[in-house]
Amino acid sequence: MNISPEGEQLPNVVMPTCPEQKILRGQKALVTGSNSGIGKAVALALGEAGADVVVNYRSGEEQAHGVVEEIRNFGAQAYAHQADVSHEDQIQAMFQRMFQEFGTVDILINNAGLQRDAPFEEMTLGEWNQVITVNLTGQFLCAREAVREFKRRGVVKEVSCSAGKIICISSVHELIPWAGHVNYAASKGGVMLMMKSIAQEVAPYRIRVNSIAPGAIRTPINTAAWSTPEAYNDLMKLVPYKRIGEPEDIGRAAVWLASDYADYVNGTSLFVDGGMTLYPGFTEGG
Ligand code: BGC
Repeated sequence: MNISPEGEQLPNVVMPTCPEQKILRGQKALVTGSNSGIGKAVALALGEAGADVVVNYRSGEEQAHGVVEEIRNFGAQAYAHQADVSHEDQIQAMFQRMFQEFGTVDILINNAGLQRDAPFEEMTLGEWNQVITVNLTGQFLCAREAVREFKRRGVVKEVSCSAGKIICISSVHELIPWAGHVNYAASKGGVMLMMKSIAQEVAPYRIRVNSIAPGAIRTPINTAAWSTPEAYNDLMKLVPYKRIGEPEDIGRAAVWLASDYADYVNGTSLFVDGGMTLYPGFTEGG
């Protein structure tokens, strides 16, 4: 039972009452950059868990439509929407359409992101700005629209005991410095404190804001790190659990974090990394 400071009973967590009931049924989700990689896996997992999903993409329309079809096969609603997360007008239009088509938003997955790697002294201002604009400003723009709607609508107790959930897809590099990827690590470090500061500000409105911080996940962004046996073996030196992560590992974590099962989880980063953040270099010695 949830009790407010005034002693009132707050809405109870919404749980499936039989195995056929889906944990996110009736919830409306928006997943940025969900035509491929982690975003795709998260969109599919949310759809399988009963959420209706907006599949946002910037390019890769055909892939996005494929994801939409797969979600519909789970019996959930879905449509694809093209928008660049770094453009305020496109983000606002995307949310407006979602409110028309689905009525509201309950879950935002701030996933869209990219890498533009370079040795530090060669990194151009363009490479710096592009990564910060997409990975950090893009998450800000989407989170702001979601919070506006969550506050306007409040809790709908049949849907969820919280007024809305934001999950920022961060990285182990919100914590681990990354030579040759200064712009990317800076953007993810920024996501970490942006997430926590938003969480602190909006928690009284029963809005939950968290991050998932993936380690090395088999996606197009890091093909070079796993596509040859040599690269894969090198990568495993950094992963105590001795396997690469699959996008579905993140999908399952997102379903849990977005659901009322995680109702008391707020302002935290959930590392899904096979132990990459455990300083594997210290397994021996130190
Ligand atoms: C990066 C990947 C990298 C992983 C672990 C992710 O955030 O996008 O390229 O393999 O972190 O280093």
